[in-house]
Amino acid sequence: MEITLFSPLDMHLHLREGDMLKAITLPSINDFASAVVMPNLRDPVDTLEKVQTYRKQIESLVSEHAFEPLMTVFFRSFSRQELIALKSHIFAVKLYPAGVTTQSEKGISDFSAIEPTLEILQELKIPLLVHGETNGFVLDREKEFLPMVERMAQNFKDLRIVMEHISTRDSLRVLERYENIFATVTVQHLLFTLDDLAGGLLQPHLFCKPIVKRPADRQALLDAVLAGHPKIMFGSDSAPHPLDKKEAPGCAAGCFTAPIALPVLAELFERHEAMSRLQDFISGHAQTIHGLEPLPKPVRLKKEPYKVPQTFGSVVPLLAGHTLSWRVSSRGD
Ligand code: NCD
Ligand code: ZN
Repeated sequence: MEITLFSPLDMHLHLREGDMLKAITLPSINDFASAVVMPNLRDPVDTLEKVQTYRKQIESLVSEHAFEPLMTVFFRSFSRQELIALKSHIFAVKLYPAGVTTQSEKGISDFSAIEPTLEILQELKIPLLVHGETNGFVLDREKEFLPMVERMAQNFKDLRIVMEHISTRDSLRVLERYENIFATVTVQHLLFTLDDLAGGLLQPHLFCKPIVKRPADRQALLDAVLAGHPKIMFGSDSAPHPLDKKEAPGCAAGCFTAPIALPVLAELFERHEAMSRLQDFISGHAQTIHGLEPLPKPVRLKKEPYKVPQTFGSVVPLLAGHTLSWRVSSRGD
């Protein structure tokens, strides 16, 4: 059996910097026509100059491949002039609460000060991507942040807000309530629960923020995605860290998933008899929501065993060593 996915889009991808950028860019972007590139570098990407520099570094690595990076900037208080200048160079602005995830120390701690910037984003029609977690108890962080998302959605009705990597039923309820709220979902939150991460031997390569949650949360996400919820897009949140930062005391948060995402999703959608919905989850919904016109890139998958490599460079992917039932057989670029 074979399927072809047209112009797969990854709406949330970490490509990192330096040697890591060089090592993981091609495996991360190979199966995608485009991806939304996160700005949480050690020195956050928060100016036009930094966006341009980062884009050039990425483009030089993908040169002969059909792939377009959609750049983001790290949220701070921006002036109107700054955002006008940035608008044609970025896809969105990414907001991180301070300290909730990898390299988010320069994120927001005073939410009362963000409104003037949100006002300008709304006016200029620049989407806002939100990492929605508080610093509270780890299982409740996403839920605790929801009132903040709701406040933004109410106060800025024309601002397109994307709740990134949602992991709870509670987020799905908020998604239903506001026309201007959308969401991305990862593979790990569709496949796993906290039991898989910490119920037996600890699985560092499944540790990410937000943490994988309860069975009922995973089931609710799966139901919504497999039913073809039009406000939910695929965003891998593929977040590589070197082996010695994952298999270590003080394990870094982030699952490396981009190179295996399409086979994993094909297997999942086939198992649930929802293969006809995969194209929209992987591309169609994002095109409609954001008005994207991605590069034409057919990616063909075959139903054949695929053993996930133990490493890509120095990075261990999610499901390393597992055999999946689908593999990517050709890419049209
Ligand atoms: C991401 C990273 O490593 O940059 N980590 C993660 O656990 N998801 C940051 C993020 O998106 O939260
Ligand atoms: Zn992320």
